[in-house]
Amino acid sequence: MPKVKKEKPVSAAAGQEKFYVTTPIYYVNDVPHIGHAYTTIAADVLARYYRMLLGGDNVYLLTGTDEHGAKIAQAAEKNKMSPQEFVDQKAAEFQMAWDRLDISNNDFIRTTEKRHEKVVVDFWKKLKTAKTPLKNDAIYEAEYEGLYCVGCEAFKTETELVDGKCPDHKTKCEVVKEKNWFLRLSNYGKTLNDLIMSGEMQILPLERRNEILGLIKTGLKDVAISRQNVKWGIPVPFDKKQTTYVWVDALSNYISALGGPKGKLYKKFWPADVHITGKDIIKFHSLIWPAMLLALKLPLPKMIFCHGFFTIDGQKMSKTIGNVIAPDELVTKYGTDATRYLLLSQFGFGTDGDFSKERLDNIYNAALANELGNLVSRVLAMTEKYFNATVPEFQVDYDKYFAFDLKTDWERYDFFMKNLKFEEALNVIWENIRRCNAYIDKEKPWELAKQNRDVLADVIYNLLETIRQTAIMLMPFMPQKADKILELLGYEVEKVKEQKLDDLRKWSILRKGQAVEKGDILFPKLT
Ligand code: MSP
Repeated sequence: MPKVKKEKPVSAAAGQEKFYVTTPIYYVNDVPHIGHAYTTIAADVLARYYRMLLGGDNVYLLTGTDEHGAKIAQAAEKNKMSPQEFVDQKAAEFQMAWDRLDISNNDFIRTTEKRHEKVVVDFWKKLKTAKTPLKNDAIYEAEYEGLYCVGCEAFKTETELVDGKCPDHKTKCEVVKEKNWFLRLSNYGKTLNDLIMSGEMQILPLERRNEILGLIKTGLKDVAISRQNVKWGIPVPFDKKQTTYVWVDALSNYISALGGPKGKLYKKFWPADVHITGKDIIKFHSLIWPAMLLALKLPLPKMIFCHGFFTIDGQKMSKTIGNVIAPDELVTKYGTDATRYLLLSQFGFGTDGDFSKERLDNIYNAALANELGNLVSRVLAMTEKYFNATVPEFQVDYDKYFAFDLKTDWERYDFFMKNLKFEEALNVIWENIRRCNAYIDKEKPWELAKQNRDVLADVIYNLLETIRQTAIMLMPFMPQKADKILELLGYEVEKVKEQKLDDLRKWSILRKGQAVEKGDILFPKLT
């Protein structure tokens, strides 16, 4: 068994009473693709895990759509629609995609909603009189000339460009010259550095934290937080010819969705326990957002976790290459739960990786159809055959016949889940599944059935109980299949869900005599 590194868990549940996790809010100029789905599924897995630990009322999962700015206005125009019509249609597409992936978000915030705009306006009013740690005005007005990338919705410096173009979007930047409101980010370097160094605001993984600390060291520049030439945005309340810079607008969603700083939900859930983001938007989350919060005198998020970016068959996912995969395509082929599993199991959550379409098929067949699916159907079939489809009574000494150490597995599972190492948590589950399959081959229940029914009862009980615990471990990842397995084991799933994780993982709570059912194949093999 691989040793667990003795790192300090990043968000210990001990003493923790609530958990607030967010995804970025997605730009609606694009259709939902598996890049968006990747972040959203990860956030959902984490939320479902914490609901099991802390109870459903104490966990909040937020996602939504980023609907203002030049990029969206241009996309609406291209589609010959009014911006509002366009964003309404697109936001619905995201909501549908998340429904199909069984995302259990508590809210879906849209930046064109009144409740959001109201909070952004309040933030402006507070920023107007706010002071920086160096006792300067937190925002000020100044003339600015810069190169703006509409794709990034951000100003670029000459050195960031390649052949005069944005390296990410391969497009020429617009020269923008106008009077804007600025956030005096340059005054926040030391405070941000101290907050990151002390761990008060964690940035993970470590290379991302170092990237941000490096940027602070080289000196932060003030940022323009309003725009004159962008009409599709929230007007600055004290300067109506300007609209809010789309990133300031978007970041505020994490608090506007909680009803603003006076909201009931805010009081319960803020600060966020983790903002999950892709590595492309780390600067906005780790510098601009915390500086805004400091100016507003609001607590900072406890953690910003940046996951990596993936390619498809070695290539960047892009409309031009034509290799953009919609989550729907995977759900139609593999089903909801298998898609969730396939996206999170392939490489470390904090690192870059690649999805090969062919490999996904192989993994589906090997891990889901063969290893997990077969284990469940074999064990239930044997219970049906040898014990009249009821859980047998445990006969002999458990220590003697049962070599599995689920206690250690649970400890590793918890550690990995709390550290967002989803692929490692899945490994723990699959080690268990493989151990069960090997246990069947070793104990040969079909021979025991002729020789020793007491030992047979123990073997089958051990397997059924391990499958039950596996289903509990799978709940955050594959909610529908986990429910199905529990149903096959004779449970009323709603009753199981009322219990806390610490009770569910006690060994041998599977009752003897409980009726089980072989059921249908969990993951039909792809041919
Ligand atoms: N609207 C901003 C976020 C505002 S949050 C206050 C935005 N939106 S986006 O639609 O471009 O979504 C970006 C996010 O999508 C990334 O941060 C990442 O979470 C996810 N991904 C998009 N493509 C991806 C990959 N190829 N790989 C992994 N994640 C990807 O930025």
